[in-house]
Amino acid sequence: MLRVAVCVSGGGTNLQAILDKIRDGAVTNTEIAVVVSNNPGAYALERARAAHVPAVCVSPKEHASREEFNTALVDTLEQYRVDLVVLAGFLVVIPPVMVERYRNRIINIHPSLIPSFCGTGNYGLKVHENALARGVKVTGATVHFVDEGTDTGPIILQKAVAVEDGDTPEILQRRVMEQAEWEILPEAIDLIANGRIQVKDGRVIRQKG
Ligand code: GRF
Repeated sequence: MLRVAVCVSGGGTNLQAILDKIRDGAVTNTEIAVVVSNNPGAYALERARAAHVPAVCVSPKEHASREEFNTALVDTLEQYRVDLVVLAGFLVVIPPVMVERYRNRIINIHPSLIPSFCGTGNYGLKVHENALARGVKVTGATVHFVDEGTDTGPIILQKAVAVEDGDTPEILQRRVMEQAEWEILPEAIDLIANGRIQVKDGRVIRQKG
């Protein structure tokens, strides 16, 4: 059974998608051991509590330094014996010590088709604002392993979403979440939980089921 920590900062719709797919049996061999947020007010923590999943806040504001916060974050993951860390809208820079400790065991959902519209400054609604400003006709979402860079780790899954005339950033963001994020993040967890993902020479190889 894969023990998963889901790290969140906001509304938690990706967390909810994971919870629902585990409940419905679409994601197997997986249990959410803990939901961790840097934001005590994150509605995602309410979603965890409603699903009777441990919900923990590790806030930078409660620690004297960034280093102490980083240590507290890793200690929490170890306390819950986590195998896989899922970043679902976690607005915290992952410290190198954590990337090393969980090499190829931290995954992130990004709301574009990496390498488009990613990297510093491309997060949340800004990603969709930039996609619309560029005039792309197709966007989407990417699940990737987290390495020392920003949105630079090996890509696991991607799903394309059409940009439609009249889209606002908010409309596009919702479509990307509904049609892509909420599908490929749970699917990536299921693939990892069932031993179907391997990283070789910096690229992901998907084993046949
Ligand atoms: C999603 O749009 C995701 O792509 C981005 O952060 C947002 C998280 O939303 N990384 P939610 O908290 O899962 O609703």
